[in-house]
Amino acid sequence: MNDLISVINKLKKEKNALILGHYYQNSEIQDISDFVGDSLALAQWAAKTEADIIVMCGVHFMGETAKILCPDKKILVPDIEAGCSLADSCPADKFAEFIKTHPGYTVISYVNTTAAVKALTDVVVTSSNAKQIVESFPKDEKIIFGPDKNLGNYINSITNRNMLIWDGACDVHEKFSVENILKVKVEHPDALILAHPECKGAVLKLADVVGSTAALLKYAIKSDKREFIIATESGILHEMRMKCPNKTFIPAPPNDSTYGCSECSFMKLNTIEKLYDCLKNESPEINVDPYIARKAVIPIKRMLDISAQLGL
Ligand code: 13P
Ligand code: SF4
Repeated sequence: MNDLISVINKLKKEKNALILGHYYQNSEIQDISDFVGDSLALAQWAAKTEADIIVMCGVHFMGETAKILCPDKKILVPDIEAGCSLADSCPADKFAEFIKTHPGYTVISYVNTTAAVKALTDVVVTSSNAKQIVESFPKDEKIIFGPDKNLGNYINSITNRNMLIWDGACDVHEKFSVENILKVKVEHPDALILAHPECKGAVLKLADVVGSTAALLKYAIKSDKREFIIATESGILHEMRMKCPNKTFIPAPPNDSTYGCSECSFMKLNTIEKLYDCLKNESPEINVDPYIARKAVIPIKRMLDISAQLGL
C-alpha cells in the first residue's frame, strides 16, 4: 500500500494533477486526496485549481461538473461505471417533457444530475446551499425542483414553499428506516441523530440535525455531545472519526439490516488501485458534449456565484 501511495504522489507531481475525493470514498482514497469534501466543495475546488489534470474520486456527475467548469482540463475518474441512482432517476428527455408541461416555472436542479439535465436547468444546487438558493427567489416564484423528492419536500417544508417536485430518489438514502434507527437509539439513548436530506421524510422528522455531508461533519465537530447516529453513506464516518477521535459515530443501519451500515455501491467502485491506473494511463476520461456543456455551465456558475455571495 505504501508503494502505491508513493507512486501515486510521484505521478501526481509529474503530471500536475489534483486528486479530489468525496466523503463517501473509501478511507485510502480520502487519505490520498488533495481535498476531501462534499459535492459543493468539490465543484468549488475544480473551478479554481491550476492543475492540468483533475482526478475526481466520486461519481460520474461530479466528474462531469468538473469538466463543464474546466473544459480545457483533463478530468479523470478511477471507474467510469461509478454512476448515481438519483441521477438515473431523472432522464433528461422525461425531465424536458415535465418542464414543457409547466411553462413559466424556474427550474432548480440538484447537482446529482447528468449534464443533459443541468442544461435544462436555471440554477443548480447542492444539499449545502439548496435552502439559501431557493430562498434567493421571491416567495411567489413558481419553481420546479428535481430530481430528489426527499430533499425537495424537505426544502419546501423549511422554506414554506410549494415547489413542484420531480419523483426521484437515492437508493442508498431511501433505505434508512425509522424503525431501525430507533433500535440503535434504544441502545444509545444520548446519541444525536444526524441525517442527510436525501433520507425519507419520516427519518428527517426523527433527526436532530439535517444537513449535507459537510454540514453534518461541521455539526459533529462543534457539538459538545459525544455520540451520534449517522444517517448517510458510511464513508463520512472516516472523516468524522479523524476530526473527533473522542466521539462515537454509529452508522444508521439500512432497512435490510439491524447493525450494518449503508454504502453507495457506485462510490465504492473506486479503489486506490484504479486511482493509480487512471493517473498512469490518463484514462478513463470524462468528456461532455460541448453544446450541452455550454448550456450546463450557466446554472452551475450561477450556483457558485450565489454561494460565494452568501459566503458558503
Ligand atoms: P453532498 O452534497 O452532501 O456531498 O451529497 C452528495 C451525495 O451524493 C449524497 O448522496
Ligand atoms: Fe448517488 Fe445516492 Fe450514491 Fe449519493 S449515495 S452518489 S445520491 S447513489
